[in-house]
Amino acid sequence: MTDLIIETRDLVKKFGNFTAVNGLSLEVPAGSIYGFVGPNGAGKTTTMRMLTTLTRPTSGQAWVNGHSVTEEPRAVRRAIGYMPDEFGVYDDMRVWEYLDFFAACYDIPEIERKKLIDDLLALVDLSHRRDDMVDKLSRGMKQRLSLARTLAHDPSVLILDEPASGLDPRARVEIRELLVELARMGKTIFFSTHILADVSEICSHIGIVEAGEIIAQGSMEDMRAQIQPHREITVTLRDQEAVEAVKAIVSGVEGVMGIADLEPRAGRQRLRIDYTGDDEGVADLNRRISAAGIAILGFAEETKDLESMFMRVTKGIVT
Ligand SMILES: Nc1ncnc2c1ncn2[C@@H]1O[C@H](COP(=O)(O)OP(=O)(O)OP(=O)(O)O)[C@@H](O)[C@H]1O
Ligand SMILES: [Mg+2]
Repeated sequence: MTDLIIETRDLVKKFGNFTAVNGLSLEVPAGSIYGFVGPNGAGKTTTMRMLTTLTRPTSGQAWVNGHSVTEEPRAVRRAIGYMPDEFGVYDDMRVWEYLDFFAACYDIPEIERKKLIDDLLALVDLSHRRDDMVDKLSRGMKQRLSLARTLAHDPSVLILDEPASGLDPRARVEIRELLVELARMGKTIFFSTHILADVSEICSHIGIVEAGEIIAQGSMEDMRAQIQPHREITVTLRDQEAVEAVKAIVSGVEGVMGIADLEPRAGRQRLRIDYTGDDEGVADLNRRISAAGIAILGFAEETKDLESMFMRVTKGIVT
């Protein structure tokens, strides 16, 4: 079994009569970039607040790095870096003072803090803003500064509540790159988002939450296989003769559910193969065509975008 760095079992949070988190069981493997995706009000922030010990579960269990959030909250807090969904107000603070303040909160000795702050600012590309007032930073910069702050005590798990929200496309890409960099440094990253492109680009794992429940969870690979049982492969060929030859080769192959002519593009013939096999099967189709001496000008698997996968899952078509 893989090591789980975050695990919850039947986690429940009620606010009065209202159940915000309803028996949620999460499995976040060590070293993963885990996208926690769901519509507004699904319970993402509430779940994260329980994981970070800010609010107690009504019932159920949660562990971070092997520590129970209710029994060993201090150990949990040491293990995590938390970036809340709101930046907060920090009037009258310079960028370096902001980081110095949080580093001091984590009991990092003054003598170590200067180098730490330099390193953190370099990591999030804010060295040139070191002496600027925090409130003057752009939203993207604030998000990066907030991320830097979560790293001050070198936690092994980052719990980030919508780190890319409200950012323009470029700033979003920068945050993504930063998350990938942090994962490379050995951190496990658990982050919530509405932005499915972020998930498909960088996540190794995904959990889809709706109305306080996990409705699908697993590695991106497994989820794609589960949710998208058939693949659409577009083959581009030189001429109609090649198209007919490919049809003949492919039609009998196990897993091929259909073959359709597509509109030619730029004078080239295109063919779509509906296929239910795995990656090895896709590679095998390609090999069979090549082995017959047919020139393949293009061979592309149309990945159903995550958006449609998400819509299908949340509509309960696939569970
Ligand atoms: N302190 C609270 N008291 C009462 N209800 C709350 C409280 N906090 C959250 N809720 C409710 O619990 C539900 C889940 O909220 P939560 O903030 O966890 O959702 P979310 O998935 O983070 O949504 P968003 O994508 O909008 O950030 C919502 O219906 C919200 O109104
Ligand atoms: Mg939220």
